[in-house]
Amino acid sequence: MTRALPTRFRRLKTTPAIRALVQETVLSPSDLIWPMFVMEGENARTQVPSMPGVERLSVDLIVEAARKAEALSIPAICLFPYTDTALKTQGCEEAWNPDNLSNRATRAIRDAGVNVAIMTDVALDPYNINGHDGIVRDGVIVNDESVEALVKMALAQAEAGADILGPSDMMDGRIGAIRTELEAQGFTDTAILSYAAKYASAYYGPFRDAVGASGALTGDKKTYQMNPANADEALRLVARDLDEGADMVMVKPGQPYLDICRAVKDGLGAPSFAYQVSGEFAMIVAAGQQGWIDEEACILESLMGFKRAGCDGVLTYFAPRVAALLNG
Ligand code: PBG
Repeated sequence: MTRALPTRFRRLKTTPAIRALVQETVLSPSDLIWPMFVMEGENARTQVPSMPGVERLSVDLIVEAARKAEALSIPAICLFPYTDTALKTQGCEEAWNPDNLSNRATRAIRDAGVNVAIMTDVALDPYNINGHDGIVRDGVIVNDESVEALVKMALAQAEAGADILGPSDMMDGRIGAIRTELEAQGFTDTAILSYAAKYASAYYGPFRDAVGASGALTGDKKTYQMNPANADEALRLVARDLDEGADMVMVKPGQPYLDICRAVKDGLGAPSFAYQVSGEFAMIVAAGQQGWIDEEACILESLMGFKRAGCDGVLTYFAPRVAALLNG
């Protein structure tokens, strides 16, 4: 028996060329989905205070941003509306208005012929006087009535021209109900990216500012979003949503839940995404602005982490910046 010589891992780290040769994971613009905030007005933009560098944009500027995504080879964008408080009601009727802000933005991008996939958000919070993702009756978020509303909302988004519907509400049974209606109405090619494992997280704070939901929200979302302590449940939720007709699934937030990303990929093998949410974005930018971290390097490292953890792609507010970097 000869004793093995010590393995020299440094041999394959000696030059950039050799390091590139053995690199296991690659990050490219095609991995990115760019979330955007839409608001009323024309040629109008406002800075989101808790998300430096992120703006709410009027529909005409959203079309320009979509063009920019196409130019940067970002395959998909995701629209979130900043809804006037006056349009928020108990019944959330504005959610399935064919001419609501989100649907107008979708149509405008379609009409402009921009070659980018449009993802929309299926949840009632931008339209709900309570700020909740489902309809509230006597202080309770009622599941089945919310699902009926979400189905109407999803159909209106498909009719407007959305390619990918993103139910982010965490009501039970919504994927099956939405899929059934899409099939019945002839929208057989509209994809569903289910926010399947979405945790009740403190990292959504800046987003709620961005869509104007912070002030509205009464209580918390713990009766529908997941307990951050749970992992087995995430796999059961993902399996359930795929079974009900989801084409792709998401884990959200991202960085604190990389173990879930890996388990979902290994367990189900479905197209899987992570959402690097607003709080994750804000932390990196804030530390970068203080000069405490190298912001750009940390952004790239954080996104590589998602790919390494098995994600096929990432929703990230850094999308345009990162795509520009990666494109050189
Ligand atoms: C709500 C929704 C949220 C996010 C996306 N859709 C917030 C919430 O659940 O309260 C968060 C995104 C982010 O923080 O970047 N349907």
